[in-house]
Amino acid sequence: MPAFHYSDGRLCAEQVPLTEIAAAFGTPVYVYSRAAIETAWRGYDAAFAGRDHLICYAVKANSNLAVLNLLARLGSGFDIVSGGELQRVLRAGGEAARVVFSGVGKTRAEMEQALAAGIKCFNVESRAELELLAQVAAAAGVRAPVSIRVNPDVDPLTHPYIATGLKENKFGIPITEARAVYAAAAGMPALEVTGIDCHIGSQITSLGPYRDALARVLELVAELAADGLPLRHIDVGGGLGIRYQDEQPPQSAALVQTLCELLPDPGLEIILEPGRSIVGEAGALLTEVLYLKDTGQHHFAVVDAAMNDLLRPALYDAWQEILPVTPHREAEPRVYDVVGPVCESGDFLGRGRSLVLQQGDLLAVCGAGAYGFSMSSNYNTRPRAAEVMVDGTRVQEVRRREGTEQLLAGEQVLAMDQNGAP
Ligand code: LLP
Repeated sequence: MPAFHYSDGRLCAEQVPLTEIAAAFGTPVYVYSRAAIETAWRGYDAAFAGRDHLICYAVKANSNLAVLNLLARLGSGFDIVSGGELQRVLRAGGEAARVVFSGVGKTRAEMEQALAAGIKCFNVESRAELELLAQVAAAAGVRAPVSIRVNPDVDPLTHPYIATGLKENKFGIPITEARAVYAAAAGMPALEVTGIDCHIGSQITSLGPYRDALARVLELVAELAADGLPLRHIDVGGGLGIRYQDEQPPQSAALVQTLCELLPDPGLEIILEPGRSIVGEAGALLTEVLYLKDTGQHHFAVVDAAMNDLLRPALYDAWQEILPVTPHREAEPRVYDVVGPVCESGDFLGRGRSLVLQQGDLLAVCGAGAYGFSMSSNYNTRPRAAEVMVDGTRVQEVRRREGTEQLLAGEQVLAMDQNGAP
């Protein structure tokens, strides 16, 4: 049964009606299904059946401590992109030795932090980063494990903002230059070359781009072996899409099977960095209809969640399903734009949705487990939503709703003017 389903005319998360969650925790609130997250992670893991592998969940997709803790308990590794994410992983019980560190802008302090923690690997994205990492590791008296993130120049056939493996993107080292960068890395005593990495984009809905990228990466792996640089792991990144509307992305098992077929060398550990496909469908954003407003041109449903809570529709024009929690079956539907209270016309959760609505109704925005809360902000001084995790019939609040005082806590009014006068 899907994580979110109707039972007795009410939308439920596992066995808990969303009406009960709204009554207990208020709205807007993010609701996650523990079973859905576990099932998605195990889907990847089981498909590897016997192959040396590590699933490094991409923390940026949903970095709540409870989500990370759940995955750590399953034995997951983690893909991080900041020192803050590393701190979260460790706080949640994740193992540093299963962490890979991606990102084009790692700072010296972040390198020191990750070396001290003893992470598995730095996915290095430029020659300048390689040089700084060698300096930082030498100063710390350790060897830094590195993998070069190569940019294979493959079109992932996704939204341009989330394509990362094209030559015009800022990510990785052009594959044509990578051999020379590996040679340089091999000559730096404070570095230990352990692997190769690529990540071509996100919300990828076919296997072709993975095949193309891997073919190019494998050519390079063979050249490196010929140069006397054998690798221990190959990191294929994340990116597998989910179904928001009518997309038909391959199952995780099909991706894993393809990778295992293309990578016949059993001595090479395969790393994956999935984010969205583990948590995306496991979450919904629950919101209440504040007002119905008819401008003659448009019917608007003004809800209490906004672009600060869920940015994807505003930023990418992303479509996410919006379901009524207790559908009114009798009345005729109307076509609504479902909008938030933020003062921007781009503040919508969905446009042109056919719904039967009354003031005070609850709506669930689906597919919100990934890049939902983690991209939320305090724009318009809106405290961020609460987050809850459902497990069967139980509900745990895994992040308290923010309060306005919390938002103001670090700020001060002016103490004096430019002449020093109060
Ligand atoms: N590894 C690296 C190096 C990444 O940059 C990303 C995502 C992932 C793994 C995980 O990709 P996934 O499996 O989640 O597709 N905010 C956007 C998505 C941005 C993805 C950025 N990188 C969205 O809401 O669609």
